[in-house]
Amino acid sequence: MLNISVLVSGGGTNLQAIIDAVADGRIPRARIVQVISSNAKAYSLERAKAGGIPAGVIGKENFPDQAKRTQALIRALQDCNTDLVVLAGYMSVLEPAFIAAFRGRIINIHPSLIPKFCGKGFYGKRVHQAVLDAGETVSGATVHYVDEGVDTGPIILQRQVAVLPEDTADTLAARVLEVEHEILVEAIISLAEEINREKASRS
Ligand code: GAR
Repeated sequence: MLNISVLVSGGGTNLQAIIDAVADGRIPRARIVQVISSNAKAYSLERAKAGGIPAGVIGKENFPDQAKRTQALIRALQDCNTDLVVLAGYMSVLEPAFIAAFRGRIINIHPSLIPKFCGKGFYGKRVHQAVLDAGETVSGATVHYVDEGVDTGPIILQRQVAVLPEDTADTLAARVLEVEHEILVEAIISLAEEINREKASRS
């Protein structure tokens, strides 16, 4: 069984896509053991509650000291035997100590075709506005491993969407989100197989 922890900050449509895919068996032999939000007001917390998933907040408000926040996050995830950490609209940059604790086991969904429109300052709607401002005709989404950089880890899956002449940041975001939900679930399915196989060979 693959134990997934999901880190969120906002509305949580990507979290919902994972909850639904686990519930209907598209992600076999997996469960979401915990949802942690960096923000106490995130709607993601309601989605976790509705899905019967333990959820908590670890953010700047309750852990203002960065090192203590990182340690709390590591402990929370280790306590529920996390095999895979999924950043699903998580808007904080993780410290090296966190990356070291879960190396090769952290993935992120980003709303552009990395290496375009990523890195510091490129998150959420800003990404889509930058794509429109640059006159791009194609955008998309990327699932990648998380390393010490911002959006620099190896790419797992990417999918394109067309940018339409009448697009606003909102309409483009909505079209990219549909693709995010698809590739995030697909990436977790293949990682689940790989990690479950490894776990079985160790036991
Ligand atoms: C998604 O578009 C996700 O790719 C993006 O925030 C949105 C969260 O939506 N993440 C980033 O920009 C991270 N750099 P959601 O809360 O509905 O899943």
